[in-house]
Amino acid sequence: MEIRKLNADEQPPMALLLLADPSLKLVDEYIKRGQCFVAEVENSIIGVYVLLRTRPETVEIVNIAVEENNQGKGIGKQLVLDAIHNAKLLGFKTIEIGTGNSGIGQLALYQKCGFRITGVDRDFFIRHYSEKIVENGIQVVDMIRLSQDL
Ligand code: ACO
Ligand code: ACO
Repeated sequence: MEIRKLNADEQPPMALLLLADPSLKLVDEYIKRGQCFVAEVENSIIGVYVLLRTRPETVEIVNIAVEENNQGKGIGKQLVLDAIHNAKLLGFKTIEIGTGNSGIGQLALYQKCGFRITGVDRDFFIRHYSEKIVENGIQVVDMIRLSQDL
C-alpha cells in the first residue's frame, strides 16, 4: 500500500469522503481548500484523509476514511500516523481532529495515535447537518474535539 498526495488532475474519492462526512456541501467546500492524501493498492484507492489549515500553525484532519471491506486492518491507523508526519513536515505546530459523540472506534484510534480530548462542540451536528445521523445506536449530536502538539 502507498499513501500519496492526490494529483491535481485526479478526482477526489467522493464515496470514501462521504463515508466520514455525509454532508456533500461541507466536503465540497473543504476539499477545495485542503490537501487530500490517498491510500492506494494496485491502482485502487482504498483510503483517504484531508488536511486543512485552520489557524496559524494549526492543521486539522477534517476527513479520514477507509473503504468498508478494508476497515479493521490497521489502514486507518497508518493514515492518521501519516497525517501527523506530513503535518510536522509542513511546519505545523498543532494537529486537531474531531468526531461525533457516537464515534467509539474513532475515539479509540485517535487516542492510540496520541490525540487528547480538548473539548466538546455541543450540538455541532444539529447546527450543521439537516439529517438525523445515528452511529453505534447513538444519535450524533456533539463533536468531540481532540488535538496534539507536533
Ligand atoms: N474499542 C477499542 N479500540 C478500537 C475500537 C473499539 N470499539 N474500534 C477500533 N479500535 C482500535 C483498533 O483496535 C485499532 O487499534 P490497534 O491498531 O491498536 O488495534 C484502531 O482503533 C484503528 O484500527 P484500524 O484498523 O487502523 O482502523 P480502520 O482502518 O478501520 O480505520 C476509520 C478507521 C478511518 C475510522 C474507518 O473505520 C472508517 O473509514 N470509518 C467510516 C468513516 C469514519 O467514521 N471516519 C471518521 C470520521 S471523523 C473524521 O473524518 C475527522
Ligand atoms: N461499543 C458500542 N456499544 C457498547 C460498547 C462498545 N465498545 N460497550 C458497551 N456497549 C453498549 C452495549 O452494547 C449496551 O448497549 P445495548 O443495550 O444498546 O446493546 C450498553 O453499552 C451497556 O451494556 P450492559 O451489558 O448493560 O453493560 P454492563 O452490564 O457490562 O455494565 C459497566 C457496564 C457497569 C460499565 C460494566 O462493564 C462494569 O462494571 N465495568 C467495570 C467497572 C466500570 O468501568 N464502571 C464504570 C466506571 S465510571 C463510574 O463508575 C461512574
